[in-house]
Amino acid sequence: MSKTVLITGASSGIGEATAKYFLEKGWNVAATMRSRRKAGDWTNQKGLICPSLDVTAPETIESAIRETLEHFGSIDVLVNNAGYALMGPLEGVTPQQLNHQFQTNFFGLVSTIQIVLPVLRQQGKGKIINVASIGGRLAFPLASSYHATKWAVDGLSESLRYELRRFNIQVKIIEPGGIKTNFINHGTDWATHPAYTDMVNQVKGFSERMNDSLPSPEGVAKAIYRAANDRSGKLRYSPHGEAYLLAHAILPDKLWRSLIANVMLGKTK
Ligand SMILES: NC(=O)c1ccc[n+]([C@@H]2O[C@H](COP(=O)([O-])OP(=O)(O)OC[C@H]3O[C@@H](n4cnc5c(N)ncnc54)[C@H](OP(=O)(O)O)[C@@H]3O)[C@@H](O)[C@H]2O)c1
Repeated sequence: MSKTVLITGASSGIGEATAKYFLEKGWNVAATMRSRRKAGDWTNQKGLICPSLDVTAPETIESAIRETLEHFGSIDVLVNNAGYALMGPLEGVTPQQLNHQFQTNFFGLVSTIQIVLPVLRQQGKGKIINVASIGGRLAFPLASSYHATKWAVDGLSESLRYELRRFNIQVKIIEPGGIKTNFINHGTDWATHPAYTDMVNQVKGFSERMNDSLPSPEGVAKAIYRAANDRSGKLRYSPHGEAYLLAHAILPDKLWRSLIANVMLGKTK
């Protein structure tokens, strides 16, 4: 019998690529998205449903899980992928912006886990795969709010794996490096402040230029699939992120800091 994966934020980028990859591998896929209107032609396939799910609206999480169970009978793997980045200087971040960033990237992920857990416990098995980021282990300029959410996801995941082991439920963290998706051009909210305008422009320009040379999301989809099938206790998978994590770990902080500042901030550092 085919296994079932439920993915949040499958309307584009990593979520969409993951849904397609699991489908290709013969899994049942609940490719959830905020708006079903965003479901592209690729969603008209056997073995795939597209329930509406907004991670900030718990009633939609409940109904998407109900729909998935009615359709496929089980949820073997939950992929918490939905997210976006709030960028810009902390001094310019409004409480509403910060609240929405945490409601989506952190509290939305927590709600989804809490709502799916009784199902996984009853099944006696399951896997929770949280898409964090290399930005949950190291930090780049003008992204303090985003990093805070991903560090929170990372810490939550590492702790959670201990309490869920007794129920045969594994927790995995996916920490991608930079990936070419809608993330940088459309998925980013920018905070502004007049004291940092030059720096914001510099980082915006750098991100937009860099976006074209980034790898496509298929490599991340494959890593998520590997994690879904990996019975070992391995916690972290870093598709396209290993080199950054290694450099961050082995370079003296002074060297790392000046490297990042030179590359990303240029003359505004
Ligand atoms: N791209 C990168 O460089 C990179 C690197 C490391 C980690 N990540 C992480 O990877 C994940 C996916 O990002 P991506 O790169 O694939 O970007 P993306 O193409 O912008 O996809 C983000 C997805 O999240 C969805 N989403 C946003 N808010 C949501 C909400 N409240 N409820 C449900 N879905 C919501 C979006 O839905 P809509 O279409 O409705 O907006 C979209 O489907 C994110 O968690 C991101 O932090 C990305």
